[in-house]
Parts: sequence; C-alpha cells; structure tokens
Amino acid sequence: MNDLIEQMKVTLASTFAFYLKTHGFHWNVEGANFPQYHEFLGNLYEEVFGAVDPIAEHLRTLNSYAPASFARYSELSIVKDEVNIPSAMSMMTKLTTDNAALIEQLNKTQALAEKNKKMGLANFLQDRIDAHEKHGWMLRSITKA
Ligand SMILES: [Fe+2]
Repeated sequence: MNDLIEQMKVTLASTFAFYLKTHGFHWNVEGANFPQYHEFLGNLYEEVFGAVDPIAEHLRTLNSYAPASFARYSELSIVKDEVNIPSAMSMMTKLTTDNAALIEQLNKTQALAEKNKKMGLANFLQDRIDAHEKHGWMLRSITKA
C-alpha cells in the first residue's frame, strides 16, 4: 500500500505541475495562431485542473495526507518547471513530452491500484489515462510538421 500512496503523491504533484505549466502557456503564448493556441491551452489546463482535487481526495481515502506545497511538488513531480517563455511550437512540443511522461506515471500508479485491489481508484486512474491519451493526440497533431 505504501508504494501506491507514494506513486499517488507523485501523480498529484505531476498533474499539478502539468496544469500549472499549461496555464502559464495559455497566458503567455504568442504568434499568428494566438487565438487557437490560447483557447486550446485554456481547455487543456481546465481539464487537467479538474483532476487535481479528485487525486488529492483519493490520497485522503487511502489514509494519507495530500501534499500541497510548491516545495513538495518540485521534489515529487516528474514534470519539470518551466521558467522561460518558449515559442508557441516549443510549448506544444514540451507539453507533448510531459503528457507522455504523465501517461507513464498514471499507468504505473494504476497498476499499483489494481495490485492493491483498489478498483475504484484503478478505474479513476484509467479514466485519467484515457483523458491524457486524447490530449496526446491533439498535441501531436499540432506539432506534426
Ligand atoms: Fe484565460
């Protein structure tokens, strides 16, 4: 169970980091396709932010506290902070890479949920995998040459 709780913390921190990066890109993206990028990134951050609270509450259901600080998130997250303002296409490429890493993290956590017979959590994580696979399709379509 401890390995599941630890990976749920990594999943929470990584989801929050992905959300924050996407929201920042929504604010700062520039270029000829600004309206499309701004709206796409807005939809993306809203969808991902919607998962933050349920992930934290699943941690509480597992009788663990949910980390909620930048210090802990930067220790735990597999999605690294973005401190610069990349070009629009570079933003999309970075999110494509981060999204793929997040899918791997979710798969790892989902397998541990199944191993620990937490089927409600396993189903929730499967839904998150499906959502991020759809995000991956859209990000890949934007970045295709
Ligand atoms: Fe906005």
